[in-house]
Amino acid sequence: MRPAGAGDVGVLGRLIAQLYDFELPGMLRGEVAARVEAGRRLVAATPLGGRFVVVRDGVVVATGSLATRDAPRPSTPPSALLALPSVMGARDAALSLVGVLRGILTIAAPPAADEAQLHSVVVDDRVRGQGAGLRIVRHLEGLAAAAGKRRTVLQVVASNTGARAFYRALGYEETGPAHGRLRNTVAFPSVLMSRPLA
Ligand SMILES: CC(C)(COP(=O)(O)OP(=O)(O)OC[C@H]1O[C@@H](n2cnc3c(N)ncnc32)[C@H](O)[C@@H]1OP(=O)(O)O)[C@@H](O)C(=O)NCCC(=O)NCCS
Repeated sequence: MRPAGAGDVGVLGRLIAQLYDFELPGMLRGEVAARVEAGRRLVAATPLGGRFVVVRDGVVVATGSLATRDAPRPSTPPSALLALPSVMGARDAALSLVGVLRGILTIAAPPAADEAQLHSVVVDDRVRGQGAGLRIVRHLEGLAAAAGKRRTVLQVVASNTGARAFYRALGYEETGPAHGRLRNTVAFPSVLMSRPLA
């Protein structure tokens, strides 16, 4: 694993488009190429801080990010989000805008001071089930422990049953629904999960 760099933006766009298929369903619409281009624009517009990649045989196959109180999740400029519908074609633009607004409201609240937050974990769909997801999560947990954190936390969209099972397999417990302003009405319903660090 290594920190993500500017040269990874293209492949990260493809991975983020795959992530949103599960985590923010309906936010990116249209053909695969349009969704990948939208993902690339989102990655290009967002600082890479806290993001790591898994490289296998010279190819980036997975990514995941860590945020803390001191190093919070970088935010995507609203202008980049609101420009997304333009890459998806007129047919999907209006529905996509609704999805973008729901997505903005779904973003997890920042972690507590003694916690580190995992987010944006995705493995290329051609290599899932081969341990790359486990590798990312354990690496991010190691960084969190080294920073003196007591637990790792994350948020998963409730309909993403595969990811929920994945995190349970890695020792995470579901601690309840995500709350917040408008969360229960507009945002994608989500669950909070956490695991204590040794
Ligand atoms: C969830 C995801 C990251 C898992 O990555 P992966 O590389 O396929 O998972 P691994 O091969 O490392 O699996 C690790 C463990 O989780 C389990 N697991 C993984 N996916 C699972 C699933 N869909 N259902 C049940 N268990 C699963 C594996 O069986 C394995 O457990 P084991 O060691 O006891 O056999 C990957 O499927 C993915 O990218 N999904 C789409 C994006 C996403 O939903 N990301 C999560 C955002 S919060």
